[in-house]
Amino acid sequence: MKILSVVGARPQFVKLAPVADACRGRGVEHIIVHTGQHYDPMLSDVFFADLHIPDPDVHLDVGSAGHGAQTGAILARMDEVLLEHRPDWVLVYGDTNSTLAGALSAVKLHLPVAHLEAGLRSFNRAMPEEHNRVLTDHAADLLLAPTQVAMDHLANEGLAARSTLVGDVMVDVLMKVRSELTDPEAVLADLGLERGSFSIATIHRAENTDDPLRLAGIIQGLQQIDHPVVLLAHPRLRDRAQAQALELEGGALTVRDPLPYPALIGAVDAARGVVTDSGGLQKEAFALRTPCTTVRSETEWVETVELGWNVLIDPRTGTAGQIACAASRPHPTATDATPYGDGHAATAVLDALLDGADMVV
Ligand code: UD1
Repeated sequence: MKILSVVGARPQFVKLAPVADACRGRGVEHIIVHTGQHYDPMLSDVFFADLHIPDPDVHLDVGSAGHGAQTGAILARMDEVLLEHRPDWVLVYGDTNSTLAGALSAVKLHLPVAHLEAGLRSFNRAMPEEHNRVLTDHAADLLLAPTQVAMDHLANEGLAARSTLVGDVMVDVLMKVRSELTDPEAVLADLGLERGSFSIATIHRAENTDDPLRLAGIIQGLQQIDHPVVLLAHPRLRDRAQAQALELEGGALTVRDPLPYPALIGAVDAARGVVTDSGGLQKEAFALRTPCTTVRSETEWVETVELGWNVLIDPRTGTAGQIACAASRPHPTATDATPYGDGHAATAVLDALLDGADMVV
């Protein structure tokens, strides 16, 4: 059995880690293709090093570009790679341009495609990720869903026969990394903050960074929070803030570069709150039982909201004061719910791929 994983952006490296581990453990040949969508060392190389992921076998070096050009560049280079390796499964992850391009290239060559993190929907057609998800799910042969809600979405779209519930591989990696943190206080010393006294913030989505008024309102909201906030700035956020002459630092807010994954987990675990527009961080905060405020009009991870650990503030209508107020709310009621699985999703992924050849239609 030969699996070929296509990854390119930061959250995909996190999801790749437990899959690569499981392949190693089961003696499955695993080829890693890095599209180069993310190329900054802090968005890419540190994840391979910290999460002990083998170096990519193939690097497509596509870099940044508009959606069409970036997706097209990956597509143009993938055929050759797939024809050379002829895997039993092409495995694509999440909802980025690398996901869609990997899936499209494989189906056109009649190679079986599995989509990890299938069935997520925001029902917001203004998000580029929503199109990537829907198109990838409908192209793929095997849909590996993280939650029952995702399974229900797939069934509603007529895709039940190709779907299987495996849980969320991000829980696998989070549990492993947390158990291996040798000095959980180091990140606090580095940030100069006391445990439980601060929030961690990340903002990177195009719909938030690329609208000057919206971005200014979000930054104002972060600055008005009643305790220190550390903003881990994605390059896109720095770029747009600079272009809009928007000062990020001020009030409660200090700005830092993105953290490596283990340090991020340590920081979120020690934080009193998280404010974000990231999908992964909403779940990581929930898994670590750190309250989250999500600056989006909807979330794919509805369980975090239903269980009371995540509050949505719609950046189109929400005010800076509402963001600040939500981020200072009292701690939610404790829960022992595990809607994202028990940390063994990668094993279920491998089981599904090993069993799944007969699902391919
Ligand atoms: C991409 C994904 C998004 C995911 C995010 C994680 C798509 C459509 N979006 O968004 O779903 O949540 O990754 O971070 O695929 N840049 C750099 N260095 C890099 C990468 C990007 O400076 O290594 C800058 C460039 O100015 C680039 C911009 O960030 O144009 C956007 O990068 P891109 O990869 O297109 O999308 P992300 O916003 O990172």
